Amino acid sequence: MSFVADRIGIMAAMPEELQALIDSMPDAEVVRRAGRDFWIGHLQGRAVVAVLSRIGKVAAALTTTLLVAEFGVCAVIFTGVAGGLGAAVRVGDVVVADALMQHDMDASPLFPKYELPGQGITRLHPERSLTRRVRDRVAEVLDVSSLAAGGALSQVHLDALGLHAPRVHMGLIVSGDQFVSSAADCDTLRHHLPDVLAVEMEGAAVAQVCHDFEVPYVILRTISDRADDTAHVDFPRFISTVASRYSQAMVLGLLDRHADQHVGDVFGAA
Ligand code: ADE
Repeated sequence: MSFVADRIGIMAAMPEELQALIDSMPDAEVVRRAGRDFWIGHLQGRAVVAVLSRIGKVAAALTTTLLVAEFGVCAVIFTGVAGGLGAAVRVGDVVVADALMQHDMDASPLFPKYELPGQGITRLHPERSLTRRVRDRVAEVLDVSSLAAGGALSQVHLDALGLHAPRVHMGLIVSGDQFVSSAADCDTLRHHLPDVLAVEMEGAAVAQVCHDFEVPYVILRTISDRADDTAHVDFPRFISTVASRYSQAMVLGLLDRHADQHVGDVFGAA
């Protein structure tokens, strides 16, 4: 596999979260590895490799490893949906992770609960300045005037689901091999991790692989449900209607080299 300078890896767990972006890559060539299709092409003129990780931490870790070690990406963007746990985090909002951890990691009493055995840490932190640039750029893409102007995601799509103007949050996202769908499980997570904003099933695994390889990463999650007793209804409705549009609007915004107030895209490419 030839290495292309500055190629960015773009991942999502499910087709509904990635399809619109793949459709935006008409020049893409597909390479198959480990049962996954890697679409190699361009978005906004930037070299990218897009891939579906499938669901869960192991699938996400394997896919991230391939993106870095075999496809030579210089950064990874993970986009998809999550359940909202923070009090102010509503369906349709976006959370940019500035910390990630596995809520189902527990090797106690050998190691403290949540600690990554042998690494001495519980939380992983993506690079701070990149995370802030991402937060600011996503807020621009989702602001009222951008949505009114139309594009991948417009006010019309939000109105169809009864969604308010999206807010962008930055904070802790937790991952585990579990679809959280009860108020009791949410309360347990909030009790142990009071600053948690969202729960999903891949982000901390992507973060751990990128951390070990020293590759910058961004975990970007749109809230599809509140991880409560209606999550099993809200999740499929969100994912089949707007999830792909959110991913498309946000990732194209991050890779846009001509965005106002930015010199180059958020990854620093001119
Ligand atoms: N992804 C989206 N909603 C989720 C939930 N409630 N639990 C885990 N992952 C999710």
